[in-house]
Amino acid sequence: MRIVIAGCKGQLGTALQEVLKEDTILGMDLPEYDITRRSSIEQAIGDFRPEVVINAAAYTNVDGCERDPDLAYRVNALGAQNLALVCQRYGADLVHVSTNEVFDGTKTEPYLEFDPLHPINAYGRSKAAGERLVQMVWNRVYIVRTAWLYARSGKTFPYKIVTRARERGALRVVTDEISSPTYAPDLALAISQLIRSGQYGIYHFTNAGICSRYDFAVKILELAGLGHIPVEPITSDQYSRLSTPPLYSPLRNFCGAELGITLRPWEEALEDYFASE
Ligand SMILES: NC(=O)c1ccc[n+]([C@@H]2O[C@H](COP(=O)([O-])OP(=O)(O)OC[C@H]3O[C@@H](n4cnc5c(N)ncnc54)[C@H](OP(=O)(O)O)[C@@H]3O)[C@@H](O)[C@H]2O)c1
Repeated sequence: MRIVIAGCKGQLGTALQEVLKEDTILGMDLPEYDITRRSSIEQAIGDFRPEVVINAAAYTNVDGCERDPDLAYRVNALGAQNLALVCQRYGADLVHVSTNEVFDGTKTEPYLEFDPLHPINAYGRSKAAGERLVQMVWNRVYIVRTAWLYARSGKTFPYKIVTRARERGALRVVTDEISSPTYAPDLALAISQLIRSGQYGIYHFTNAGICSRYDFAVKILELAGLGHIPVEPITSDQYSRLSTPPLYSPLRNFCGAELGITLRPWEEALEDYFASE
């Protein structure tokens, strides 16, 4: 297949390039390609004539979105709309990657693909707007929501936990933020299966299982050989940050499982993350 990956230098974009290496790929990212400027992507996509465009580009700094919501809307909503308009023009399928943060976290069981959106922070609002816009523009769209994404290429949660444990010798981690860690190569594999299905719709792809940030941190330390580092359990009201994450936001993979697309348990994926060091 001929596939455009927008955000090809990010965690998911990098994993997608690896998983889709048998396909013909055009990678796009800043500074050459800016999804907020349609003119900077339209010509290249038109010349390349992809069957699928995967939007893994986003402004993912959640606290940064709180500081600069206009930038969040520009990239996560209007940038996504630009890609949908280009897909419509050239007849390409669009995979738009979204987040657990489109939900408010007040549910007591995992969120279904069909649950109503109710974001509670600027990042979530911009991502929810992106979902709406791509669906208004084009009908050949797969929306793939994921959560707590991490990879070797990113300085995300596992990297920060290991680094801070080494620097500080002790950690405090919240017990009441709950979701599902997702290893970017596993998400990339699920997306590579989905794009061959023709079954447009909304999908929830995270690694299987549910845990708190605290459980995740303890497992990271164990696998990193740092199990002796003390981790103090705290609640999110004891941890000050600019944005408010949804507290309970696991995503149930109902639609993908119907197609036979499932992801392995998060603990197994985390072992692979450490094995790939
Ligand atoms: N990370 C998570 O925990 C998480 C959780 C749930 C959902 N998601 C979603 O999953 C997707 C992939 O996330 P990720 O963690 O792989 O993100 P990432 O590592 O931050 O990668 C995003 C990439 O997009 C690029 N980008 C930003 N603005 C752009 C623009 N205007 N035009 C073109 N490229 C631009 C970034 O470049 P710069 O680095 O130069 O800005 C970066 O290379 C996103 O849709 C995100 O919202 C992520």
